[in-house]
Amino acid sequence: MPRDSSHTNGSKDSTGSSGSSLVPRRSLIQSLGAIGLGGFVGNTASGRSHSLRGETRAVQDAQATASSPELAKWVDEVPRPGVIEPTGTKDGQPYYEVEMREVEQSLHRDLPPTTVWGYDGQYPGPTIEARRGEPVYVRWKNKLPDEHLLPVDTTIHGDEVPYDSTGVRVVTHLHGGNVEHTSDGKPQAWFTRDFEETGPKFEKKDYYYVNDQPAATLWYHDHSLGITRLNVYAGLAGFYLLRSGREDELGLPAGEYEIPLVLQDRTFNDDGSLFYPTGPSDGDGSGPEPSIIPQFYGDTSVVNGKAWPRLTVEPRTYRLRLLNGSNSRFYNLKLVEYDETAGTTGADGPPLTLVGNDGGLLAQPRQVDDRLQLGSSGRADVVVDFSDYAGSTLLLHNDAPAEFRGSVATDDDVEPLPEVLLVDVEDASDGDDTSQVPSSLGRVPDIPVESADRNRHVTLATQTDEYGRLLHLLGTGEEPLGNRLYDPATETPRKGTTEIWSIANLTGMSHPVHLHLVHFQVLGHQSYSDFDPEADSVDPETLSPPKQGERGWNDVVTVDPGQVTHVIVHFGEYEGLFNDQTGWYMWHCHMLEHEDHDMMRPLRVLPEEEDDEETCEFPADDANRSDGGPIFE
Ligand code: C2O
Ligand code: CU
Repeated sequence: MPRDSSHTNGSKDSTGSSGSSLVPRRSLIQSLGAIGLGGFVGNTASGRSHSLRGETRAVQDAQATASSPELAKWVDEVPRPGVIEPTGTKDGQPYYEVEMREVEQSLHRDLPPTTVWGYDGQYPGPTIEARRGEPVYVRWKNKLPDEHLLPVDTTIHGDEVPYDSTGVRVVTHLHGGNVEHTSDGKPQAWFTRDFEETGPKFEKKDYYYVNDQPAATLWYHDHSLGITRLNVYAGLAGFYLLRSGREDELGLPAGEYEIPLVLQDRTFNDDGSLFYPTGPSDGDGSGPEPSIIPQFYGDTSVVNGKAWPRLTVEPRTYRLRLLNGSNSRFYNLKLVEYDETAGTTGADGPPLTLVGNDGGLLAQPRQVDDRLQLGSSGRADVVVDFSDYAGSTLLLHNDAPAEFRGSVATDDDVEPLPEVLLVDVEDASDGDDTSQVPSSLGRVPDIPVESADRNRHVTLATQTDEYGRLLHLLGTGEEPLGNRLYDPATETPRKGTTEIWSIANLTGMSHPVHLHLVHFQVLGHQSYSDFDPEADSVDPETLSPPKQGERGWNDVVTVDPGQVTHVIVHFGEYEGLFNDQTGWYMWHCHMLEHEDHDMMRPLRVLPEEEDDEETCEFPADDANRSDGGPIFE
């Protein structure tokens, strides 16, 4: 499916600047501030024309070099991930050992077995079922082979990463976990098989998850520096469902009527193996091979590790825990009626009722009016009532373009992966449906805007690297063109304080922005041209309100091009709902190709003034870094 490059219009007659790194900061800010959105898109062509040309070529290359073999759709039932049992106890708490292994797994009836990497040898990994107030220990064990399954670009953080080490580097991050920094699973805490080699921020083998946060759909996935996109694509991801007694009492659909679904896209070779492009797909031609590509989009929908699967349900209410586990793809979902023989869609199916998202239950259920948007790593906890659809066939339909630009008008109306999952509603139920969706769910106290101790202005930006390839970066008000991962930490909030983060997207596409450790509330969005970077407060009245899926506690938010998204976040315990932590975490774009190439920055939570001395000394283990220098400083 070659892409029409016409959607880069607006990028051609730019101001004539050749690379965003060459634009003086002052003039960038002035030009951005002075123009409207249309002008924004055109005039940031220093970033945008570059980025869009690169992105377009990348997609063409990826699609030109491979497309999956024709696979019959909807022939396999969607698997349900198993549950991991603890192997024992440690300090009186459940202790898990989870081995990462290479295995062959059948991802489709007609496809030869696929070599994947799985936690406990399963892709996706089995679910960890945790209870609020009951801490657990997990030892993530690396039993992966010597060689990577997929093409590794050794220029990505090449100075920091020993690409010549024996064995694959891994580290598991608990996404959405309000956890101590030594158990966060940050990229520099990687380790090879049997902990033979460890990264500069590796501190311990047994991670401790305190589970002192609201019940929520969390997930775990690999986060290894420079190869996260490849490790996750190979299969290293799974659910971590944190439950509570309070949630149990609600009576939401449970047991076999509660189904976690991880949505991913993959491309397969004819022999069943996973295809991931070797690149180079952009840049000046001097780049390495293999080379990272700006974004990856697969041509096959894979749900819970099955390609084009079907989900059989009874005509009753279900709770679906949706997770976007794709590398780069956005989903914009709704259920529609489907004629399986003709392959055509019909009227709208049952609505999705959102009961929770990233950080836990919403205060009240909210019926999604039209479509539910999920950027990479986003979760939606939805209830669907199939009782009026006995005997029908439905399709979980996605209309998000691959290069997602959100609310920004685009002539790119391609629907590159419209069919996600077929839902087969049986004629009759097995028994009575006693589940319910109470009108009051979780506790989501507002964080008042007036309580903010500071406003932080951060940016999403693009530059080019030394091979002329697209480089996605995170910046600040002072450095809007972005900082690299190893530049000194700039996001250093103090424990116990509240901040408003105003995230300005200066690039040509949407990015799902994720903060480790914390959950925030979305205040709203505005056009960059209406944004005053000097202002020290935000008036939510002047913003477009949060979208439906953005209510409640989130740890990832999508920022559309030319927009500023404002979120409010408290660092530490908040009305008894979260717990205090300090130390080094990360924040980053969750498109995994962006995160690896370099749209990731440290998030350093400082202790309160009084206990300055006692904690948050970042461990003095910098000596084992190759250059001996301090990391992030
Ligand atoms: Cu899923 Cu650093 O995150
Ligand atoms: Cu991004």
